Amino acid sequence: MKNLISFSLLLFVFQISAQNSAPYTNTSLVHLKSISPALEASLHNLDATFLSCREHQSSSDIIVSATALNWLNTNNVVFETIVTDLKQKIDHDNAAMELLRSEKDGEEWYNIYRTYSEVQDKLVEIANSSSIATLIDLGDSYENRAIKGLKFSTGGSNKPAVFFNGCQHAREWVTVMATTYFADQLAQEYTSDNFTATLLDLVDVYIVPIVNPDGYVYTHTTDRYWRKNRQVNANSSCVGTDLNRNWDADWNGGESTSTSECSDVYVGTSPFSATEANVLKNYMESVPNLVGHLDIHSYSALVLGPWGYTNTESPDHDEIVSLGNAMNDAITNTNNYPFIFGVGDANGALYLASGTMPDWSYDELGALGYTFELRPNSSSGGGFELPESQILDACAENYNGAMEMIIWAADVQSGCMDATACNYDANATVDDGTCAELDECGDCGGNGPNPGYDCDGNCVTGEMLTIQLEDSYGDGWNGNTLNINGSSLTIASGSSSTEVLCYDSNLCVSVVCDGGTWPEEVSWTIINSDGVELLSGGAPFSGEFGNCSSEILGCTDPLAINYNELATTDDGSCEYSSALDVQIINLPIGWYIFSTFISPQFPAIDDLVSSINSATIIVKDAEGLAYLPDWDFNGIGDAIDGEAYLIKLSENQNLSTSGTKIIPEDFVINLNEGWSLLAYLRDSPANLVNMLATINQQIVIVKTFDGTAYLPDWDYNGIGDMTPGQGYQIKLNSNVSFSYPQN
Ligand code: ARG
Ligand code: ZN
Repeated sequence: MKNLISFSLLLFVFQISAQNSAPYTNTSLVHLKSISPALEASLHNLDATFLSCREHQSSSDIIVSATALNWLNTNNVVFETIVTDLKQKIDHDNAAMELLRSEKDGEEWYNIYRTYSEVQDKLVEIANSSSIATLIDLGDSYENRAIKGLKFSTGGSNKPAVFFNGCQHAREWVTVMATTYFADQLAQEYTSDNFTATLLDLVDVYIVPIVNPDGYVYTHTTDRYWRKNRQVNANSSCVGTDLNRNWDADWNGGESTSTSECSDVYVGTSPFSATEANVLKNYMESVPNLVGHLDIHSYSALVLGPWGYTNTESPDHDEIVSLGNAMNDAITNTNNYPFIFGVGDANGALYLASGTMPDWSYDELGALGYTFELRPNSSSGGGFELPESQILDACAENYNGAMEMIIWAADVQSGCMDATACNYDANATVDDGTCAELDECGDCGGNGPNPGYDCDGNCVTGEMLTIQLEDSYGDGWNGNTLNINGSSLTIASGSSSTEVLCYDSNLCVSVVCDGGTWPEEVSWTIINSDGVELLSGGAPFSGEFGNCSSEILGCTDPLAINYNELATTDDGSCEYSSALDVQIINLPIGWYIFSTFISPQFPAIDDLVSSINSATIIVKDAEGLAYLPDWDFNGIGDAIDGEAYLIKLSENQNLSTSGTKIIPEDFVINLNEGWSLLAYLRDSPANLVNMLATINQQIVIVKTFDGTAYLPDWDYNGIGDMTPGQGYQIKLNSNVSFSYPQN
């Protein structure tokens, strides 16, 4: 009997283990900052792969073999190691994603990178759930995969249209997530957000997440860093055309292009010789009134306007700059992750490129064609493998940027519509939620003068700080800023800079340094007018100096029940009247379901299991949300009293939980129909049938972590006693509320 109903609790469906890491066996990812033509030639001879797709780049991320790495070392080339073992990194990342692949509800879908087929399913789901979204099929790829997307339209004719696509370049995985997210949000917000609904009534929106399906699939199955499509080239064993060099806008113009089939920027045999570029071209030409196009790439944190093949200003330069800045600001303001806008080579931030898609949209269709390069801004931020924990941030940034293009196309005047606000815009036809008030200095939306200063910028305290900024590499701070009391300092270029700031020594001064790449090169020192060093550090940094202590009185003992995290000086108020209750839980290696009869003092799941972090592989809640210690990713948040959690350990552990003991007869547990994870809240074992007697009619099954079951219909109790520390899977035929008997 017991064997019959013992079955494995969790079925993880592992794909046939992916081989996309195989080409990177025994390779490292390095960054070189000054590459001479001679060095570049040597690296090419050593079969190094340049991830920056431009000839004669002065700096690039480069994949090198162990031999090449040795060569760099013996020849004293200065480089930075980004990933020591690239294969291991890709494998590790794949494994972490597999753990979460089955979790797809709501935003869970965006916790990991999704495959071509998962994206196709999602597009269908969005189309089915939305009254204004229709699935569109643009045509087939070279290997006969469908290139699908969504069209959002409320009908009517002569409306302006905008077209968004991701993934011309196969390895740029976050672009697939960001475009799908964009479609997902538009579908939801059409019914829940007035502003979005207004816009979608005025503009038709086309979104195609994967325009290079063959390449995308290939990055999942065979080669994580594949860029081109998978079209066979006559007379060459090298496969693929760079889709974003195959468009008829300065095609084969020599700006970061190549006529070699083996190059990552191979232009193809003629414009639109690549199947996918041709399919897209035909579709886009059929869209009436296309006014805007956004081609989404990663990585570099850039917004680029036309033209990309020349630094000459286009006829629509002013409008292109205005929309470009609006998109760039919207992205940057989302999470304060700085993006840069530019046209051409963006003042050297990127490179010119011939034959790109947005230049074709601009030259041939008259649509303003832009490129986004989503986060990160460098390989040290993850490169093409933006950490999964940042996918949603990148999606939100792309969403806000792309929204600006729809706002522009809708030609609505969005602004503050509250006549009493200091930024009231009498011309606004749609309120965008930016209304603000005057601060004491008369600044609309300001925060008053910086500490030490008056509203005119005079130093009222007469106290000055000297701040010395250094960059060890000598190329500026690469976007890092040192923020002191509202002032933001940086080194734009070179190795050092000295700044002077006014401050108020009676106040506590907060100091934050972060925001850019190459933080390890950053250092700074803050000195007062007597030459005394007040604080020094690097990046990232968060701290304070000045009159910071004795500011906050309170209990400073973490073990006291009234412990005040913010208190800096103990005022003797600590109370210990009820000492902490503790429960020790024995956890076995492998999967287990645990619960505690303690209401924890620090309920965040990562705090709760911090003492056994090194052995913890994953913790999951009933909804499948996960805490992954290796990734420092807590998708669960706080543990909830009365709930149980799945845990997987690499060895046996004793988990100690401390806090306040729950009084079982006073604690009401609410469970919904269907499956839940139930805690046992009493401090001693007792027969399960007695413990759950009040809800016996509603129970379908109760199971332990190893599949042992209680089946009321069969009058079968394979579990016996409920045990403190264990949790239970329970399935109910209706919602219930109950309490356990007293201890
Ligand atoms: N990095 C992308 C590529 O190599 C985008 C190029 C667009 N360049 C430009 N300057 N607008 O295809
Ligand atoms: Zn790209």
